[in-house]
Amino acid sequence: MGLHIIILAAGKGTRMHSDLPKVLHKVAGLPMLAQVIKCAQKISPQAIHVVVGHGSEQIKEAINDDTINWCLQKEQFGTGHAVQQTFANLKDEQNVLVLYGDVPLLTHETLQQLTNELSQHDLVILSAKLDDPTGYGRIVRDKKNKVQQIVEQKDADDNTLSIKEVNSGILATRTNLLKQWISKIDNENAQQEFYLTDCIELAVKGKHNVEALVCNNADEILGINSKSQLAEVERIYQRRIAENLMAEGATLMDPSRIDVRGELHLGKNVEIDVNSVFEGSNTLGDGVVVGVNAVIINSTIEAGTHIHANCHIENATIGRNCELGPFARLRPETKLDNNVKVGNFVEIKKSKVKAGSKISHLSYIGDCELGKDVNIGAGTITCNYDGANKHRTIIGDNVFVGSDTQFIAPVKVGDGATIGAGSTITKDTPKNKLTLARNKQVTIDNWQRPKKNK
Ligand code: UD1
Ligand code: CA
Repeated sequence: MGLHIIILAAGKGTRMHSDLPKVLHKVAGLPMLAQVIKCAQKISPQAIHVVVGHGSEQIKEAINDDTINWCLQKEQFGTGHAVQQTFANLKDEQNVLVLYGDVPLLTHETLQQLTNELSQHDLVILSAKLDDPTGYGRIVRDKKNKVQQIVEQKDADDNTLSIKEVNSGILATRTNLLKQWISKIDNENAQQEFYLTDCIELAVKGKHNVEALVCNNADEILGINSKSQLAEVERIYQRRIAENLMAEGATLMDPSRIDVRGELHLGKNVEIDVNSVFEGSNTLGDGVVVGVNAVIINSTIEAGTHIHANCHIENATIGRNCELGPFARLRPETKLDNNVKVGNFVEIKKSKVKAGSKISHLSYIGDCELGKDVNIGAGTITCNYDGANKHRTIIGDNVFVGSDTQFIAPVKVGDGATIGAGSTITKDTPKNKLTLARNKQVTIDNWQRPKKNK
């Protein structure tokens, strides 16, 4: 029997106080809905139906996944009404799993467990015990510990409010049953909504076999309704990532002070100091060391490279045994070969730097090709922009550039050339020769320093 997964994501998320639809708020760098979809895809369902309403176009565009069946819930009359919007796409007698787009910490192992239970039960709901159950629907059980119903926070009396077992919102059943129950629910409750959770009572009354699976790890079912819960979930997610990285052998100076917003692939013996942020897809080779406060975005850093404190690296490829920073900035399309050194306050953009070259201090290198074993003196600038167009600077192997040089691009520097400090280079320079372009030093005799008027 094929498994269909329904994900509810049509609500506005009023409690977020944001223009962005709630399910597009990010958890670990991905919209929370994308996290839920990713998890759902891991158990290989036959189809995924996502119910959207508020901000539907924006959501479809952000998720950009054409394997999804999008179902529109024009007006949001509640979670039961939302589920109903998928019925045209659901054949009878199939297994169906309902997930909420605002519950992103769920693991596919738990989902699998829940669907496995369907072999023995008609309806399986996922619950958890929370120290603070405020806001959640409560699981009401009878004296024999059998689930009776779910009561929403807003409809609960004091007795019910004291129940610590809460509804995750996630349930598994069969499509024909779901359709049958949903057709019977009404909106006579505090929120005047059609609650999906009312299906539980209907199932019990209809003598169906209902089970509540208590989630071992209560964190998994945390729902996000507010910015505070978003931050809480983010921390839990990050801790999970950090634990996984350490389990694979990474040394993290403080697992509570690393943020991975995307995918981070690590070789062996990688060391990461505190407060680094990794965005998008990053790969760090064996023995890479990342100092304090690095921001690394969609980059590859090969084995043995040392990133000192406070570097910002984006869409860059860095070879083996390089040294970067402190305070280096690599902008998109930077490619460093092996053994390159980029020191403090150096910015590199759209440039290739070949092996063994050094740019140690205070430089801007943009639209440039740098040969092997080049030494760029402090304060060197490639003037790549003439106000209208960008031009390239090509520097050969073994070039030595004196400090405070400007290259007015387009310009080429031959292999082995030396450029005198303080030069403004406007024309191509020959191989193996010293070129300088600066005024001769003069000394003025009898010159008087101005004095303050009395
Ligand atoms: C819901 C559950 C509650 C559970 C909690 C878990 C109901 C009635 N209550 O409450 O028992 O403890 O989740 O987090 O189901 N949505 C729609 N269309 C609608 C209304 C909601 O698609 O008309 C979507 C929302 O976008 C959201 C999800 O359903 O992703 C849950 O809705 P929300 O309003 O957040 O329900 P809760 O009050 O959290
Ligand atoms: Ca919610």
